[in-house]
Amino acid sequence: MSLLAKLIPNLEKIGLDFPLLARCINGKRIVYLDNGATSQKPDTVISAMNHFYTQDNANVHRGIHQLSQRATMEYENAHQVVADFIGASFEEIIFTRGTTESLNFLAEALTKNLQPGDEIVLSQMEHHSNLVPWLQQAKERKLGIRYIPITNDYRLDMEQAQKLITLKTKAVSVAHMSNVLGTINDIPTLAKLAHKVGAVLIVDAAQSVPHLTIDVHDLGCDFLVFSGHKMYGPTGIGVLYGKKRLLEQLNPFQYGGGMIREVTFEYATWNDLPWKFEAGTPPIAEAIGLSAAVGYLTAQGMQHLKEHEQQLTQYTLQKLSEIQGLTIVGPGTTKHRGPVISFTLQGLHPHDVSELLDREGIAVRGGHHCAMPLLNLLGLEGVTRVSLAIYNTKDDIDQLFEAIHKAVRIFQ
Ligand SMILES: Cc1ncc(COP(=O)(O)O)c(C=O)c1O
Repeated sequence: MSLLAKLIPNLEKIGLDFPLLARCINGKRIVYLDNGATSQKPDTVISAMNHFYTQDNANVHRGIHQLSQRATMEYENAHQVVADFIGASFEEIIFTRGTTESLNFLAEALTKNLQPGDEIVLSQMEHHSNLVPWLQQAKERKLGIRYIPITNDYRLDMEQAQKLITLKTKAVSVAHMSNVLGTINDIPTLAKLAHKVGAVLIVDAAQSVPHLTIDVHDLGCDFLVFSGHKMYGPTGIGVLYGKKRLLEQLNPFQYGGGMIREVTFEYATWNDLPWKFEAGTPPIAEAIGLSAAVGYLTAQGMQHLKEHEQQLTQYTLQKLSEIQGLTIVGPGTTKHRGPVISFTLQGLHPHDVSELLDREGIAVRGGHHCAMPLLNLLGLEGVTRVSLAIYNTKDDIDQLFEAIHKAVRIFQ
């Protein structure tokens, strides 16, 4: 057993891969349960980026010299690694700054040729990133937005979805996993409904990619977007997957170096996919870090990881349900949910809960979680969110349980 493991007996082996988890907060071992916001980074990701900057740093796609060639090879390889991870092909993977940027691009590109009265279908559980870009386009182009409602057990009402997705619908854009409720949505069925009326299906996979095996063909989606930083990779990089046939039809969303084939004083033509959508110097070190994060997840085994997180979610739900005055806001069992668990605590504001837990070294998130319409719909000002990751353990949850009890005792 390593010195660290002896000092911190509850830290299971996997936690040792994440240097930040060895930190103490307020004199206590950190219990990091805010992974829905961003995850911690393993050594392999940090050292891959460090290696790039200390050994291979150069710009890509523009140098004959060795460093540039190495950087280009590593950057291009990152596209292939991400493509393999979600069952896509190399040309279908575009690197962006994150989920938000990917969704902004899609909202603009896919509504450009729509007519007033055409409709976009979203759901009531969307993050602002999958809502505001569509709202803005709808306002500018006089489009309608329809929302698939949620049921009493916090799932999408698929009967209503069937009624809402009509010949007027041009795009359906939904979260794979809700960042508030933890609900996992039935994407293959939504894809069928969208395709039946000739609409495209976009999946916001920001919360699901770190926890579930993703295969874009099994999901049946046309576009899928996610962020590197929520899946053990760096900030500043995200992914936009699109079916090759559809990407070929779309115009670039930024113009400049790197994305062109030929430029004259009069016109320009576009590069092949995926470079047509990657103008300017891309996030090279970040792509290399993201590739290392995918390597880390793959080495752990996505199925193994899912089983671990499901068991821990079940344990968390069970422990939390023992606390008087605590209400889970989301599906009560692991059948239709992932490891994002929100709750309210009678008589305590979520910000107070977060602060009291922070005193015990526990990082959770309190507030509206960038889903104001959903929280309003539920009649809640905010919720406290526990979001789990690969390195969380039963001991983390036991510590959380004790700290919530302590908070309840202080306030009641
Ligand atoms: C479901 C969902 N979509 C989109 C986003 C936005 O991600 P980013 O801030 O990395 O662009 C988040 C972030 O919390 C999210 O949870």
